[in-house]
Amino acid sequence: MVLPTGRLIGSSELMRALEEDLRDAARSDAKVLITGESGVGKELAARTIHAFSARSSGPLVALNSAGVPDTLLESELFGHMRGSFTGAYRDRPGLFELARGGTVLLDEVGEMSLRMQSLLLRFLETGEIQPVGSDRPRTRVDVRVIAMTNRRLLEQIANKAFREDLYYRLNVIHIIVPALRDRREDIPALVEQFLRSAVQQYGINPPEVTPEAMSCFTDYHWPGNVRELKNVIERCVVRSRSQRITPEDLPTELLGAPVVTTPQTPAVQSIADATFNKLVRGEESFWTAVYSPFMSRDLTRADVRRIVTLGLERTKGNYRLLLNLFNMGPTDYKRFLNFLRKYDCQLPFQAFRVVRNEKAEGEAEDHPAADFASPVRSSG
Ligand SMILES: Nc1ncnc2c1ncn2[C@@H]1O[C@H](COP(=O)(O)OP(=O)(O)O)[C@@H](O)[C@H]1O
Ligand SMILES: [Mg+2]
Repeated sequence: MVLPTGRLIGSSELMRALEEDLRDAARSDAKVLITGESGVGKELAARTIHAFSARSSGPLVALNSAGVPDTLLESELFGHMRGSFTGAYRDRPGLFELARGGTVLLDEVGEMSLRMQSLLLRFLETGEIQPVGSDRPRTRVDVRVIAMTNRRLLEQIANKAFREDLYYRLNVIHIIVPALRDRREDIPALVEQFLRSAVQQYGINPPEVTPEAMSCFTDYHWPGNVRELKNVIERCVVRSRSQRITPEDLPTELLGAPVVTTPQTPAVQSIADATFNKLVRGEESFWTAVYSPFMSRDLTRADVRRIVTLGLERTKGNYRLLLNLFNMGPTDYKRFLNFLRKYDCQLPFQAFRVVRNEKAEGEAEDHPAADFASPVRSSG
């Protein structure tokens, strides 16, 4: 399956150097390790290498190993034999076999277990594929591997969480994709590009970005990098009623001013509300629907706050009842509270308590979130 390769936007020094690295990498057939923060464009870079390489007419197969259990990951990568586990009715090839003659993108390779790391290493050394349920290698394939991670692998090696020999196997060519805040010159062009594609997608007239709003874009530190910028622009387009994007249309974190409560914009509400509804309908748990997307910056802090707010409205400010509402187990309570506290998503529960009666003291136990009673801190 070949997915379309977007064009890497940016003409800063750093981007030009990156493009040169990518071109060099495309000319060779060596393994590549691409590192950089989340959302900087590692996958786009990897796809660019494939597209300009001699393998471009071959398949490009991508796998993100984060959160995939070992047994499944092994079968995804190497395939399985009929009867190797319940439900394995026929032999099934893995990604390495499907990518024969092409390129395999291994995303989040830093998340692999040590066991998967050794299986991967064995494959990289021999090119031999041993499907799950087979007692010997069945076939050899020629694929190029491009691995990506936002982890600091050297630190992980020091902590014995990543195999050093695998690191050197993967790291024949090392490409570092720079953070967006280190190449702010590229921001206006990216804004233009994302505006154009959002406008196309939603079929509306392109809004104009005021110089003030553009300064907010270029000044912000973009912890979620290009992905975050893209999301922000899309939201601006969806919610803009006028033909101009002004600072008022931007998420508060872009304004640099400390804020205590985040005003809810319609666009922010819609994503958060949709997620909240999924939770309430029991379709997903907080961990998969909120925590993971937030960590990968597909949800913003404002979204998480909105979701928590909606939940607290239902539970009348009771944090413990959110566990059930958000499909978590009773043992998740501490982790849940720690998460909210760490990312500044706790809300003062008092605001949600109905003044039915005066037994506030007796209720204190039902509201262990009194831990949160300290003033909500702002984060710039
Ligand atoms: N230089 C760039 N030009 C255009 N779009 C980009 C650029 N860098 C990243 N993107 C877009 O930003 C999003 C995140 O990029 P991705 O490659 O998935 O990041 P990473 O793998 O590093 O987390 C994608 O939608 C991608 O198309
Ligand atoms: Mg990625």
